[in-house]
Amino acid sequence: MPQSRLARIVTVVSLALILAIGGLLAWRLIEARQTGSASAGVALIGGPFSLVDQNGKRRTDAEFRGQLMLVYFGFTFCPDLCPATLQTMSKAMDALGPAGARVTPIFITVDPARDTVAQLHDYAANFHPRLVALTGSEAEIAAASKAYRIYYQKVADPALNGYSLDHSSVVYLMGPDGSFLTHFSAGATAEQMAEKIRSYL
Ligand code: NI
Repeated sequence: MPQSRLARIVTVVSLALILAIGGLLAWRLIEARQTGSASAGVALIGGPFSLVDQNGKRRTDAEFRGQLMLVYFGFTFCPDLCPATLQTMSKAMDALGPAGARVTPIFITVDPARDTVAQLHDYAANFHPRLVALTGSEAEIAAASKAYRIYYQKVADPALNGYSLDHSSVVYLMGPDGSFLTHFSAGATAEQMAEKIRSYL
């Protein structure tokens, strides 16, 4: 085999290896970020928000420093998953007992057009007394959802007053510094949730 051809083959193989390893590393990094795994160092979930609660008071993430936040995004017209999840969060809060005072359950709407302060006020009364239900402008909700990697999309649904929303259904547990600790998928029980939260208190 001529020397130049061998050199070309070595070069091509080396480049292919570099690309493959680079691709693998990039994939691992993306995967780690998406799952919020500890190997990524800092999970890129969470961030600042400035929204209005069910009493019309503006609330920001900064006021929850020093305690845990149990955060869920949804909408009050949601027929099943949202109320079920908020019920589970409420039961988990009860199960925590006095230690629950260091945890704030937070519901953030992805349907600010219909979830007004008054609507949230009525809705929140169905759940834990310390639930903070938040709404805001479309832009404020979009910013908060983006920070928490929440997807939502309006879909036509005559049965739900014109439209429904497809949305991520994840409960996040955020730490005393506002950073991501862990998450719960739909289907987690109140007991599982309380036990995990307790391990961070
Ligand atoms: Ni829902």
